[in-house]
Amino acid sequence: MNPELPEYYGRLCMSLDVNSMKPLDNLGHPVGVIKDAQALAAEAFGADHAFFMVNGTTSAVQTMIWTTCGRGEKIIMPRNVHRSAINALVVNGAIPVYVNPGRNARLGIPLGMGVADVQRAIAQHPDAKAVLVNNPTYYGVCSDLETIVSVAHAAGMKVLADEAHGTHFYFSDRLPVSGSRRWVFARDGAVRPLFVVGRCCRAGV
Ligand SMILES: Cc1ncc(COP(=O)(O)O)c(C=O)c1O
Repeated sequence: MNPELPEYYGRLCMSLDVNSMKPLDNLGHPVGVIKDAQALAAEAFGADHAFFMVNGTTSAVQTMIWTTCGRGEKIIMPRNVHRSAINALVVNGAIPVYVNPGRNARLGIPLGMGVADVQRAIAQHPDAKAVLVNNPTYYGVCSDLETIVSVAHAAGMKVLADEAHGTHFYFSDRLPVSGSRRWVFARDGAVRPLFVVGRCCRAGV
């Protein structure tokens, strides 16, 4: 071992680092403890499936987009979407249809997507594959998710929720509605990091 490593990370940290081995399972093809933990996470969030991710919420947002729209296909999203979503489109060539979220003049912050604006985007781009919603935005603003889901589903589109700041929503009726409530999403997708508001080490679902 490079002697600088224990010096840098500390001996305890290095003694906990182990090679990839069967009992630890494999994130790429989980068959043991990771599979069981994913099933528990799905149950906890009321989802059909949960997939643990590495590389931040970015990789989860991008996976969600790449599995929903391909090159040349459209996705409706707010103009204040996180850069991970925009980079996903740069990589795979899907086409954004931006909805202007408007701005709160007093606070000077961007808002969520209005239902009427989403409906207009859907009417103008009926071939879009999905609507992506920030739930909530970086500033904590939520769109009317339930109504957006119902209008998108009525148009045959999926709804993808970036819940980077909404991990905790599912666990209280006093918080805004979460994307993984079954009656909201059915079989679409939501991503949420467990480290931003979920207080775990660098991981997401
Ligand atoms: C709304 C939103 N989505 C996605 C991300 C990406 O998260 P990460 O930095 O964990 O990749 C962030 C990060 O700030 C975010 O605010």
